[in-house]
Amino acid sequence: MGPIKDLGRVFDRVADAYDVGRPAYPDELYRALGELSGVELDGALTVDVGAGTGIMTRGLRARGSRVVAVDPGAEMLARLVSRSEGGPPAVAAVLADGNALPLADGVADLVTYAQSWHWLDPVASIAEARRVLRPEGAIAGCWNFNHAAQAEWLAAYEARLAEAVPAYYGPAVEQWSAPPIASAFEVIAERWIPWTRLVGIEDFLLDLRSHSYMAALPPEYADELVERQRVELRREFPEGMLPVPMRVYLAVGR
Ligand SMILES: C[S@@+](CC[C@H](N)C(=O)[O-])C[C@H]1O[C@@H](n2cnc3c(N)ncnc32)[C@H](O)[C@@H]1O
Repeated sequence: MGPIKDLGRVFDRVADAYDVGRPAYPDELYRALGELSGVELDGALTVDVGAGTGIMTRGLRARGSRVVAVDPGAEMLARLVSRSEGGPPAVAAVLADGNALPLADGVADLVTYAQSWHWLDPVASIAEARRVLRPEGAIAGCWNFNHAAQAEWLAAYEARLAEAVPAYYGPAVEQWSAPPIASAFEVIAERWIPWTRLVGIEDFLLDLRSHSYMAALPPEYADELVERQRVELRREFPEGMLPVPMRVYLAVGR
């Protein structure tokens, strides 16, 4: 259990903020996933790797998929389990490393990495995905990003982060790009899906707290930075709701 505990540590520390603050994925993402992969989500068996608190897992189940949710973070998975009661379709939560899936060969229709593949070994993870997939199965990676170029206030928010957080990596970094999952498999298609997230300022700040680069900061410094962002956001949006331009990058392959 030692290595699993280490892998899960980063997000386990921010599991509550993650659970409340992080955005779900838009309907269009699931529609594109079904269309590009050729896998009918309804009735499919999906292995959701790096499932975390279950944001993608819930979206897949809501569309009829049976899901095996894999994550090394016990705290993250505990939230996934407590929010997954009821059904069908079935969900199984497995505390494991996505680079060594505890699953038989050729059982799954889809392997998904929602916001997670960049945490895994780029080669071992895809080899494992291929092993557990049926021959006609597909692999999908997706990431939800703030689309900073679409709104000045959001670009300014990201710029403040870039300036204050040494480990920040996001739209304010010039060479920033989505993780290179498309170079790790045989690409079927890539797509950028724009959408708008309407969120309250406090939930948006919980989202900020749930990023690994924030979790790595000294707590008092992180508190000050969040307070600075709160003041700026309240000044821009006194009514307390933010229309956040977002875009999801989706890559589907074999
Ligand atoms: C940013 S979260 C994504 C959670 C969720 N899929 C979502 O869409 O919000 C990344 C997740 O990857 C998990 N993770 C990190 N290393 C992993 C590994 N080797 N195998 C599987 N999951 C891993 C973390 O524990 C964390 O829950």
